[in-house]
Amino acid sequence: MSDLKKHFLDVDLFEKDYILEILNKTSKLKISNRKENFNKNICALFYEDSTRTKLSFEKASNNLGLKFHNLDGSKSSKNKGESFYNTLKTIDSIGMDLIIIRHPSSGASHFAAKHVTSSVLNAGDGSHAHPTQTIADLFTIYEKNKNFDNLEISIVGDFIFSRVARSNIIGFIKMGCNVNILGPKELISDEILQAYEFLNKKNSGKIKIYDELEKPILNSDIIMPLRIQKERFNNNFDVDFEKYQNNWKIDEDLIEKCKKNVLIMHPGPVNEEIEISHKLVHSDKSLINNQVKNGVYVRQIIIESLLGK
Ligand code: CP
Repeated sequence: MSDLKKHFLDVDLFEKDYILEILNKTSKLKISNRKENFNKNICALFYEDSTRTKLSFEKASNNLGLKFHNLDGSKSSKNKGESFYNTLKTIDSIGMDLIIIRHPSSGASHFAAKHVTSSVLNAGDGSHAHPTQTIADLFTIYEKNKNFDNLEISIVGDFIFSRVARSNIIGFIKMGCNVNILGPKELISDEILQAYEFLNKKNSGKIKIYDELEKPILNSDIIMPLRIQKERFNNNFDVDFEKYQNNWKIDEDLIEKCKKNVLIMHPGPVNEEIEISHKLVHSDKSLINNQVKNGVYVRQIIIESLLGK
């Protein structure tokens, strides 16, 4: 089996057709709600907090009849000095078919994939990637729209530390959307600007970058505010949250000025009243709960494709 089919590490490794295949299989699964009876073992190795990703992987695994083993990184023998490498080797020796990893370091899942015999699935690595969130978000759009071509998506917020931002921008562009990147200068570094400008050259100007909010979102079909990843700030970095709230929060007044059918997405968790108002999160424009619900179905399809029937 090729490494691309064995592991699930990032959307930039996948062709558009492969993503579409996952979306189509997810559509069918959502209708049939079929269950399976795999006799295989999964280990969730999470070194960071999670609500929706971990729980949806567990539910998806249960639907597939898998044995789900939970190793909480913060309570593992890491606290006795065991290295990440030796933790992986230990899990591998115990015997797992798939290890699902969430880790604060970018590249942790790629590292793991090189050193274990099982499949590896990236459930979020540092500021790098969160591919299953992107597939859940793409499916949520696909379910509503059936077409990605030239759909205009404005992503607002933290482009330095958000792994969802990076994976979603790549995923949205790959599927044919136009993406607006909106945020204050301190949350879009020069390095990030250069990376997106490079990506833009390869994708015929589908990415636009702004340091203002109102004008770019007026024509958007989807607006996706992001949480500021405060837990990843180092000592030399800070953001004025009050200023951010005043200048970048998405609320009902702003949405009134946008397209009538504009939809709101957010990968979660939400910090209400900082990046988005409580009212909008729970409004009929919000697809946030759909994203969470769809996360179970896409993860079921992805695990199934990794483990084979
Ligand atoms: N979107 C996301 O990764 O949420 P959790 O941290 O709750 O898993």
